Amino acid sequence: MKLKHFGYLFFTTLVLLASMQACSHDTYSDPNGPICFERDILPIFNSKCASSGCHDASSRAEGYVLDSYKHITKSGISKGRPNSSELYTIIVDGEMPPKRSPKLTNDEVNLIHDWIAAGAKNGINCVSRCDSSQFTFSKSILPLMNKYCVGCHSASNPSAAVDVSSYSGVKASISKGLMKSLDHTGYYPMPKGGSKLSDCEINQVKNWINAGALNN
Ligand code: HEC
Repeated sequence: MKLKHFGYLFFTTLVLLASMQACSHDTYSDPNGPICFERDILPIFNSKCASSGCHDASSRAEGYVLDSYKHITKSGISKGRPNSSELYTIIVDGEMPPKRSPKLTNDEVNLIHDWIAAGAKNGINCVSRCDSSQFTFSKSILPLMNKYCVGCHSASNPSAAVDVSSYSGVKASISKGLMKSLDHTGYYPMPKGGSKLSDCEINQVKNWINAGALNN
């Protein structure tokens, strides 16, 4: 074969390889899968890391903005390798969040680990695991507050004097516009900087309040 044919073959191979690469960059995970970014991972970063003054779009502490898939995976995450991912290791080391802020729970740390290990994929339109007929305080309401809100509304960091880390705090927040903030019909749509909770989750809170906001 003449040299120029080699060149041609080489070029074609490169084009082929490049187009294969283009097809394999689909990072969307299965919204029915065990871990779904939008449902399971983003709320953790939003509540525990993107609180005002930390890693939100306007503060960008240390250059990290942790408010969307694009920003979260931009640096500090090595897909498939949690132990080489700074965003994971600083949480495990206890360096982040800083002392005054609520820590991540073990379940949250494990979720982030497993999500990175599985390729840190972007799952959107996740299937909801919520059942609005279940709305006891301990099984439904407090876990919901822990997931979406306590990063900014705990005893040590009660934004707008709202602390939803305990029964008395959640109960007190009802008269401070809890439902309006969840429905996004009040002045302050919550969780701040995050997406609105699913209709099912909002209905759980509504049902709990309508049933007397019990400590059950
Ligand atoms: C990233 C931080 C952050 C998260 C997460 C967050 N909040 Fe807030 N929240 C704030 C701040 C800051 C304010 C004060 C108003 C403002 O600046 O928007 C506030 C205000 C409120 C208020 C008072 C609104 C009013 O009209 O006075 C309520 C109620 C509230 N939040 C409930 C919640 C609930 C419930 C969640 C979880 C679903 C939540 N917040 C998640 C930061 C947050």
